[in-house]
Amino acid sequence: MGDGANSALTAQVEASFDATPDTRLRGILQSLTRHLHAWIEETHPSIEEWEAGIQFLTRTGQTCTDVRQEFILLSDVLGVSMLVETLNGADVPEATDSTVLGPFHMTESPLRSIGADISPQSVGDACVVVGRVVDSGGNPVAHASIDVWQANAEGFYDVQQPDEQPPGNGRGMFTADVDGGFWFRTVVPSAYPIPTDGPVGALLGATRRHPFRPAHIHFIVAAPGYRELVTHIFVAGSDYIDSDAVFAVKSSLIADFVEMDDPALAARYGVDAPFRLARFDVVVTRDDDTEGSELRA
Ligand code: BEZ
Ligand code: FE
Repeated sequence: MGDGANSALTAQVEASFDATPDTRLRGILQSLTRHLHAWIEETHPSIEEWEAGIQFLTRTGQTCTDVRQEFILLSDVLGVSMLVETLNGADVPEATDSTVLGPFHMTESPLRSIGADISPQSVGDACVVVGRVVDSGGNPVAHASIDVWQANAEGFYDVQQPDEQPPGNGRGMFTADVDGGFWFRTVVPSAYPIPTDGPVGALLGATRRHPFRPAHIHFIVAAPGYRELVTHIFVAGSDYIDSDAVFAVKSSLIADFVEMDDPALAARYGVDAPFRLARFDVVVTRDDDTEGSELRA
């Protein structure tokens, strides 16, 4: 088939969606047709390569279970999750940057009081995280909810080690005080590999990419009238900080976990010195502060 016939085919498939009543769905499918056909023309797969691609996607679907989402992982390692997250982030310069949710927010975090230890069953470097939730004008967001979850110092979430960590270890749901303030105790998390025993792991192996994420703590910050913020703080200096397997590091989210030796300060936080202290102030935006994304054909 010559070039003209190929573009006629592309036009024909595009036109097949012309009667779609939902204009957004129509635009998405017609754009998908154009980009997909252009990609196929550019890469010119053999029949065997195309079948291998179909089999890869089939295995990706078959690897999904109630507690595993291999398609999200594929989106993550292709940088698509991060792109979607960033396109839908708050359109306000002061807002705290968002980043990917990831697959481990799969259980409800236990309700904890400000100052609680979220990792009572973990061994590692003691750490205190202190922060304040404010709006884009710097005003406190009283009683914002702060959901946090993290891997332990060996790089595992509670759900990955059901025999070693009780449910809720490494997790906490906090309510900020009237000034938007919050703090909690934990251990410094470590870098860890994303799951590699499925098709996404095979893709990373075939392309000589490592599977590691730098050490981080996940946050979801929410308050009525404000846009929900899904983000992390990353431990400054962590291994893989410059090569996150899912491309989710933004420099604004890297926090110093500063070693503190002061026994009086340690006593105030209920930890032993030395401990590490990280500060994470969060700027959330009002629901009507932001703009939606637009489809660009
Ligand atoms: C996570 O940080 O929990 C995560 C994010 C994307 C893929 C795998 C894990
Ligand atoms: Fe994580």
